Amino acid sequence: MLTVAVLISGTGSNLRALLDAASAPDFPARIVAVGADRQADGFEHAEEFGIPTFLVPYSRFGSREEWGAELDEQLRVWNPDLVVLSGLMRLLPAGLVEAWAPRIINTHPAYLPEFPGAHGVRDALAAGVTETGASVIVVDTGVDTGPILAQERIPVQPGDTEHTLHDRVKPVERRLLIDVVHRIATGELDLDNLAH
Ligand code: GAR
Repeated sequence: MLTVAVLISGTGSNLRALLDAASAPDFPARIVAVGADRQADGFEHAEEFGIPTFLVPYSRFGSREEWGAELDEQLRVWNPDLVVLSGLMRLLPAGLVEAWAPRIINTHPAYLPEFPGAHGVRDALAAGVTETGASVIVVDTGVDTGPILAQERIPVQPGDTEHTLHDRVKPVERRLLIDVVHRIATGELDLDNLAH
């Protein structure tokens, strides 16, 4: 059984979907802890499922590195096989990424390498593209530059706002994330031996 820790910053709707999927008896992974860099609404989902939570407030540390060191310590308490960033809106310090690589993955609301960063949906709209997408990647020390594990195109519709487009992207992200976690858990996807 693959053990997973999930890191969030916000509403945690993708986390919720993963919790739902992982509660099925035949799902080969289980979530052991949920952490956040701020008091995130998504903690409610973890609590509902009886999953422990931990908070490492970014604002309480003098530097990204110090924050990352505490986050690393908290993660080590649970020692998960996989760390999933699901809407964590902070860049992790290189030391933390290197400590967990390649067992750390991220969901992103765009078709990477298009529109990396904190505003993937907004940036796609601003660029006037007719399609964007959703991606699941391995985290490396760049901004959304790691190996792509899964991605899918999503059309932009006339009149889309950041909100309406993001609402259509998220269900795709969820499906991709659940599938990637499943494939890692069964060994079908081997993070240590990714084809380049
Ligand atoms: C998701 O769309 C996720 O891909 C995005 O934040 C959203 C979190 O939603 N993450 C990033 O943009 C990271 N660069 P949720 O809190 O409802 O799951």
